[in-house]
Amino acid sequence: MKPATQKISVIVGAQWGDEGKGKITDFFAGEADYVVRFQGGNNAGHTVIVNDETFKLHLVPSGVLYSKPVSVIGNGVVVDPKVLLAEIAGLQKRGVNPNLLVSDRAHVIMPYHIDMDVAITEHQGKLAAGSTKRGIAPVYADKMYRHGIRMIDLLEPEIFHEKLEKSYLFNKNVAEKALGGKISLSLESIYNDYLGYGNQLNKYIADTSKILYDAKKDGKSILFEGAQGISLDVDHVIYPHTTSSNTAAGNIAAGCGVSFTKIDKIIGAAKAYVTRVGISPFPSEIEGESAKSLRDKGNEYGTTTGRPRRVGWLDLVQLRQAVRVNGLTDIALIKLDVLNNFKELPICIAYDVNGKTIAEMPASLSDYRNAKPIYKILPGWNDFNIKNESDFSSLPKNILKYINFIEEEVDCPITIVSVGPQRHQTVLK
Ligand code: GDP
Ligand code: IMO
Ligand code: MG
Repeated sequence: MKPATQKISVIVGAQWGDEGKGKITDFFAGEADYVVRFQGGNNAGHTVIVNDETFKLHLVPSGVLYSKPVSVIGNGVVVDPKVLLAEIAGLQKRGVNPNLLVSDRAHVIMPYHIDMDVAITEHQGKLAAGSTKRGIAPVYADKMYRHGIRMIDLLEPEIFHEKLEKSYLFNKNVAEKALGGKISLSLESIYNDYLGYGNQLNKYIADTSKILYDAKKDGKSILFEGAQGISLDVDHVIYPHTTSSNTAAGNIAAGCGVSFTKIDKIIGAAKAYVTRVGISPFPSEIEGESAKSLRDKGNEYGTTTGRPRRVGWLDLVQLRQAVRVNGLTDIALIKLDVLNNFKELPICIAYDVNGKTIAEMPASLSDYRNAKPIYKILPGWNDFNIKNESDFSSLPKNILKYINFIEEEVDCPITIVSVGPQRHQTVLK
C-alpha cells in the first residue's frame, strides 16, 4: 500500500541529506491531505522532476505540484522570507499556485544570521560542518537564546522593532567584536524590508499546530517531509559536523505542534551509495578518478549550493543508526540506476577503529576520525528497465541480492526502490 494512503506517514533522510527525499515525497504526496516540513530551512534543496520539468524546492514541501494537499511549513522550520517569496513567485510563474500555510511560530532567518554563519564558520576552522551559509545555525541559536524573531512578529511593527533591536545588536557585537566578521545591513533597513516581507506573506501565516491538530482529528492524511538526514542530526551523529536541527522523525511533534501517538509509516530515504556535502570524516569515501566518475554518473552536485558532493560506498553503520533513531518502518533505496554496470559493489558493514570492530555509529569524534571501513563485496548488475511500479520481483537478480543483504544487516525492509529521477521511475514491493 502506498504510505500516504495511511493516515500519518513520514519521509526522512537516512544518510547525509540529498538522498532523494523530494522525489519520494512527490511520489506519495498526491494522496495526502497535508504535506508538512517540520525542521531545517533553505539549507535543504529537494528536487522533483515531473514530465522532464525540474523543480528545486528549498522551503515549500515537495507535495506542492499536486492540487490536493495543503503545503505546511511548521514551527520547527526556520524561514528566510525573501527566499520563500522568491520560491512562491518562481512556482507561480510556472503555473503552480502553492496552497501554503506557514506557522506563525516559525523563526525568521535575518540577513545578519547569514553574515554570522560566515563569521562562525571561519571561527570554527577544522571543526566547521561546511555550512550552506544560509544562516541556519545562527537562527536556531537565537531561538534558544530567546531573542529570535518569529513569523508573527513581522506582522506586529512595534513588537518586531523591540525584538529586532536585541537580536540585531547581539549578532552585530558578536560577529564584529568577537569574531572579526561584518554585519552588512543597518537595523532600520532590515526593519523596513522585513515588515514588507511580512506584509506579503501575511495571507499564508497561520496557527498551523491547531490546523494540523484538527486535520488529525478529522482523520486526514498527513505526510511529513524531513530535510537533511540522520547523519546531520544535531544530537545523534558526528557532532559538531552536523546541521542545527533534529532531523530525526522524533522531532515531528515539536516541529509541527501536534503529538502523534501513532505514525503508520516512517520511511528512510537512502541512496544506494552515499554522498556528503560539507566537512566531516567519511569512512567509506571514494577518492580520485573513481569518485569523479561516480559523482558525474549520479550528477552529484549540490541542489542548494552547487558544490560537488563527496561520494562513497553504502555505509550500513550509518543506515543501522538511521533505522534505530528514526524508528524506520521502511527504507526507500534510491539511485540504484547509478550503480548499473559496476562489476562489484563494496558495502561498508562495520568500522575498524584502532583494531576494534564496531557496528554502531560512535559518539567519539576521535573514533570516527580513525574509523576504517570493513567491506563486504557484492556482485553488480547491468542496465535494466522497469515496466511499471509493481515490477519489483523482476529487478535484476543481483539488485535483489543487494537489497536482501541490506535488509538483513540493518533489520528494516526496503519496500520502495528508485531507479531514475522521474516520478514514474519508482518500484514498490
Ligand atoms: P533531497 O535533498 O533528499 O530531496 O535530494 P536532492 O534533490 O538534493 O538530490 C537528489 C538528486 O537525485 C536529485 O537531482 C534527483 O533528481 C535525483 N534522483 C532522485 N532519485 C533518483 C534516482 O532514482 N535515480 C537517479 N539517477 N537520480 C535520482
Ligand atoms: P537536503 O534537505 C545535504 C549540510 C551542509 C553542512 C552541514 C551544516 O537537501 O538533504 P547548515 O547550512 O545546515 O548549517 O550546514 O549540513 N547540509 C546538507 N547537506 N543536504 C542538505 O539538505 C543539507 N542541509 C545542510 O553541507 O555540512
Ligand atoms: Mg537536497
